[in-house]
Amino acid sequence: MLLERMRGIETTLLHGGIDGDSRTGAVNVPIYQTSTYKQIRLGEHTGYEYSRTGNPTREALEKLIAELERGTRGFAFASGMAATTAVLTLFKTGDKVLISNNVYGGTFRVLDKIFSNFGLEYEFVDTTNPLIENKLASPVKALLIESPANPLMTVTDIAAVAGMAKRRGILTIVDNTFMSPYLQRPIELGADIVLHSATKYLGGHSDLIAGLAVVADEILGEKLHFIQNATGGILQPFDSFLLIRGIKTLAVRLDRHQENARYVADWLQKHPGVARVYYPGLPDDPGYEIQKRQADGPGGMLSFELNDGWDHEAFINGLSLVTLAESLGGVESLICQPSTMTHASIPEDIREKIHITEKLIRLSVGIENKHDIAADLQQALEGARRAS
Ligand SMILES: Cc1ncc(COP(=O)(O)O)c(C=O)c1O
Repeated sequence: MLLERMRGIETTLLHGGIDGDSRTGAVNVPIYQTSTYKQIRLGEHTGYEYSRTGNPTREALEKLIAELERGTRGFAFASGMAATTAVLTLFKTGDKVLISNNVYGGTFRVLDKIFSNFGLEYEFVDTTNPLIENKLASPVKALLIESPANPLMTVTDIAAVAGMAKRRGILTIVDNTFMSPYLQRPIELGADIVLHSATKYLGGHSDLIAGLAVVADEILGEKLHFIQNATGGILQPFDSFLLIRGIKTLAVRLDRHQENARYVADWLQKHPGVARVYYPGLPDDPGYEIQKRQADGPGGMLSFELNDGWDHEAFINGLSLVTLAESLGGVESLICQPSTMTHASIPEDIREKIHITEKLIRLSVGIENKHDIAADLQQALEGARRAS
């Protein structure tokens, strides 16, 4: 175990969890496409009874993500939202969850439209503001953070906030989708639970919907395993295999995503058509210092707004290499307008308050040649200039 902790994360991405198949020597974990398992005799089984409860391919993935996130136990779900939903069922009527301003729209929606029916309360808070401490009182049971948050890339000091929450017995849950464990490990910073839409960087190829949760301690692990088995939103064996395969190349992909994002952020900042770039890798970004301290890089996501002289709709429609699509973290560059796409489920008045306007454009910078990405942005910006 000590050796395991000392090796580089690039190695753990490839060889962590259950490495290959000890029975045959296959270098990849086999796909155990089975719903059930033959029992040895009444009352005695192999450790597997039914695939909702446990499946060896899913288990390999769950062990891998637990190791990567430095937690005690991992759980794989059918989507990021299934993982979030399972974690939220840890709470009960009358409890309250604080969520950081501009979390993913679906996270807001499940609290606003589903959990509120069962009396679980929620409130948006600015987790970048130290005054948040005043909100950490009964009936608050958890704080759900994204850092950098989606889509304004606001950075929360995870260690500071998790410390405040811990002192009051409040759980800190971090959605680590934008960073992945390659760049940020919230449990090391004091978080209790880490969530992923593994659909994004972990899968990495826009060909899979999956979610993961990792817990810091055994008691939460027991509770979440009970919930996973009882509610059943598990990831299937083939998708578990695909996700293990995606995770193997996370380091090389993210290095390139990040190199390209730094280049594009800098390029956009210098363009006269761009009013503002939100990217925690830019030295003048308000989150720059905290990001540098708590993560191993700013990642591959950025957002920006155009100046009034440029038409954002014409710009988006004028792109040809960069694809207009929901989602992020795949190898190809994807662009979206959060107000009408990823965050459309947040009512307009709240969106305005948290600065998710129609002018805001979010770019998931892919691993294409960075000059090709910039050239596509350039030609679309030229076409979007309003006649003066
Ligand atoms: C930060 C974040 N968390 C959670 C989710 C939900 O994940 P999924 O789409 O895999 O259900 C998303 C999806 O876009 C996301 O961006």
